[in-house]
Amino acid sequence: MKQIILRAHPQGRPRADDFAVEEVPTPVPGPGEILVRTLWLSLDPLIRFALDETVLTGAARVALGEPVYGGTVSRVVESHHADYAVGDLVEVRSGWREYAVVDPAQQRMGFRRIDPAAFASPNAPLSAALGIIGMPGQTAHSAVEIGRVAAGETVVISAAAGAVGTIAGQIAKMRGARVVGIAGGPAKCRAVEAIGYDACVDYKAPDFEAQLAAAVPDKVDVYIDNVGGDVTMKVLPHLKMKARMPVVGFISYYGDGMEAPGPDRMPGFLRFVMSRSLEVRGFAGQMTGGQKALDDLAQWVADGKIRSIETVVDGLDNAGTAFADKFGRNDQIGKLVVRVGKE
Ligand SMILES: NC(=O)c1ccc[n+]([C@@H]2O[C@H](COP(=O)([O-])OP(=O)(O)OC[C@H]3O[C@@H](n4cnc5c(N)ncnc54)[C@H](OP(=O)(O)O)[C@@H]3O)[C@@H](O)[C@H]2O)c1
Repeated sequence: MKQIILRAHPQGRPRADDFAVEEVPTPVPGPGEILVRTLWLSLDPLIRFALDETVLTGAARVALGEPVYGGTVSRVVESHHADYAVGDLVEVRSGWREYAVVDPAQQRMGFRRIDPAAFASPNAPLSAALGIIGMPGQTAHSAVEIGRVAAGETVVISAAAGAVGTIAGQIAKMRGARVVGIAGGPAKCRAVEAIGYDACVDYKAPDFEAQLAAAVPDKVDVYIDNVGGDVTMKVLPHLKMKARMPVVGFISYYGDGMEAPGPDRMPGFLRFVMSRSLEVRGFAGQMTGGQKALDDLAQWVADGKIRSIETVVDGLDNAGTAFADKFGRNDQIGKLVVRVGKE
């Protein structure tokens, strides 16, 4: 079988040649274990944390020569466990490989059985278990809850074209808010508006600050932050007193370590937190959202209130390039998944 290993620890932004494809024997499951075949692989920003030589945050760690860490939707093809039959579907963090041996008793985060009936419609393809009816969906659901998004309010969402952003924007619209996205480039902004955002501002444009000011004339009640960095520093002056700021992630710094190079921006950030009485709250979306978020999301998708938006890459061989693009060129819209095997 094929697998993709970590060839070099990325320095800053990951590059396609940090990864290498190799052929290895298909593993053999022992007592209590199952052999799964990967159907879909999820390329999430959190994988970046696992690739550093010295891991600063996150539970997972990938050593050189090991298969890269990541969530999958997989089918059981051999079972030595009473609760799992051949043909069953599971979500499992089994990594960038075609087959994996899994011990269900050892699984914690990111492991669940998938009911195929819940993914039978075109609105909810099986890959949506890694997106809108999965961890990014739970995260978007939690962000809107933590932000207490209400009808008539103005919500700004950074990384609006990403997995979390495309879902959070749809949920905030369902709640009757005016939703403004921030994304990189005119094409991405048009895609964000096509999802249902009221407006989208291009943070790569030279007049980003003027575009942003024009898009939020009544100031901002909730800022759902996926990126941190320059974008966030430019949103802060537009926040109302007591604005809520759910901190989902800070992708603009990933790979820079905990103390990024450059000037210390904490004074500017803390000035706004204090003087505007901001409510800033970080959270782990999967745990905060839990089963309630998955149930809500599945229902909203079934009712046609929200929809799954994905970029699909074909073939495990292309996972490294697609993952590197996430931090560079990035023309991906919605949840990025790799089709590894036929369903
Ligand atoms: N707290 C949690 O439990 C949790 C769960 C899931 C995700 N997260 C975090 O939430 C964020 C979004 O995740 P996701 O799954 O939606 O990611 P995604 O689908 O990979 O999208 C990431 C987006 O980030 C934008 N981006 C990349 N570098 C940037 C930069 N330097 N400045 C501004 N934007 C940049 C890219 O958009 P452009 O092309 O528009 O730049 C891209 O669309 C990440 O920070 C992730 O780590 C947190």
